[in-house]
Amino acid sequence: TTPLIGLYGLGTMGAALALNMAEHGIHVHVANRTTAEVPVFLDRAGPLGTNITAHDDIDALIAALPKPRTILFMIPSTKPMDDMIDFVIPKLSPGDTVIDAGNADFNDTRRRDALLREHELHFVGMGVSGGEEGARHGPSIMVGGTEHSWAQLEPVTKAIAAQHEGDPCVAHLGPDGAGHFVKTVHNGIEYADMQLIAEIHGLLHHGAGRSHAEIGDLFTEWDRGPLKSYLVEITGRLLHEVDPQTGRPVVDIIKDSAGQKGTGRWTVIEAIRMGQSATMIEAAVASRAWSSEGDLRAQAAALYGEDRGTLEIDDAELAKAFSAARVLDYAQGFRILRAASAEFGWDLDYARIAEIWRAGCIIRSALLDDISAAFRNADTGGELILAPAMAEILKDGIPALRALISKSLAAGHATPALASALGWFDTMRQSRGQAHIIQGQRDIFGRHGFERIDATGPHHGPWWG
Ligand code: 6PG
Repeated sequence: TTPLIGLYGLGTMGAALALNMAEHGIHVHVANRTTAEVPVFLDRAGPLGTNITAHDDIDALIAALPKPRTILFMIPSTKPMDDMIDFVIPKLSPGDTVIDAGNADFNDTRRRDALLREHELHFVGMGVSGGEEGARHGPSIMVGGTEHSWAQLEPVTKAIAAQHEGDPCVAHLGPDGAGHFVKTVHNGIEYADMQLIAEIHGLLHHGAGRSHAEIGDLFTEWDRGPLKSYLVEITGRLLHEVDPQTGRPVVDIIKDSAGQKGTGRWTVIEAIRMGQSATMIEAAVASRAWSSEGDLRAQAAALYGEDRGTLEIDDAELAKAFSAARVLDYAQGFRILRAASAEFGWDLDYARIAEIWRAGCIIRSALLDDISAAFRNADTGGELILAPAMAEILKDGIPALRALISKSLAAGHATPALASALGWFDTMRQSRGQAHIIQGQRDIFGRHGFERIDATGPHHGPWWG
């Protein structure tokens, strides 16, 4: 029988997913808040329309679907999603599944999952990565929900997902918020990867004096080797774009103020809440925040000067430094997944997560092939820096990263993400760090106690009082 699904919300992503489904032989029943969009959408669908049935509203859509129903919602995952859930609960039947395919805060997903369970309904938090193009032709899909929902959803998602060498980039990662959490961390890794690229561009442009097009060429060259990735590819292309109005490189006319919708920030917040810290992702979120303070930056530039010294940069060494920093970005991301897996009892499969990120999503990269293999070949409990294949990249790249950051800092270039990569790595490779000083201070001013290296139990110092 033809798989069948309901889809509500024909915005950019919803419409693209619906067309993707129709193209893959799935019969999709659609509706939208404003009905005026529907004929426009059907027009776009063209011959794919044979697999699409449009309805005037959510009530009609629900009535048309056989039970148990599966309805995917592509609407803002904030209040509109809560309002929609309240609206549909009385209209649905036990066993039906509601899917939120937007970028939801996984805490909301857990709350909504609990609410729907009270009504014998199922809730799926589904992370979809790849932008409009991905949604239309093959995204990476991260599913959180019950086995029952997954059984309904599996054929549909496997049909529409991106494929990596025949393996669909979709997985049922765990219950309730697991899918949305993994998507959130995907975005956190994405933020830091983007920031690393931006910092490297800055060093090459302002430090080594290279033109945007020359830097674009380097990215394009990298995209043919081990550094191959979607973000590297599009940056290479971006740096060659010319503004039709002024004839200037497009990157010179774009205001340096980055937007953010929340996923990077959530990654950082959840990491800290669980007693972790993903400093590279924090640096990326911070950099976006600071980027919006243009006036303040202009005042500080006038006060302190904005000179940045010249840098000599060797392309091969830079590639090594970038590789190492990227491994550390992923390593920090997987540590957050590890912490959440323990806290929420999700039993996340790190190798599988890396596998479904190999195609379709924004962070797809050749490195993810190696990361998947590293997790499959060595059980390091989600700790990427302990995987032998990653240790090889790090041992090769860290000296280059160290050299790059040293001279960049000395010359006054801002490299918050690159520098925090090393701050974290060097901390983790010290078997004895600096926390004994903190513990001594805490015991002196607050009698907080400390553990001794040569005895068990809590101890206090005699101190001088
Ligand atoms: C993806 C993207 C996608 C979207 C985010 C970006 O995986 O397809 O991450 O989810 O582009 O909204 O987030 P910001 O707007 O916060 O950069």
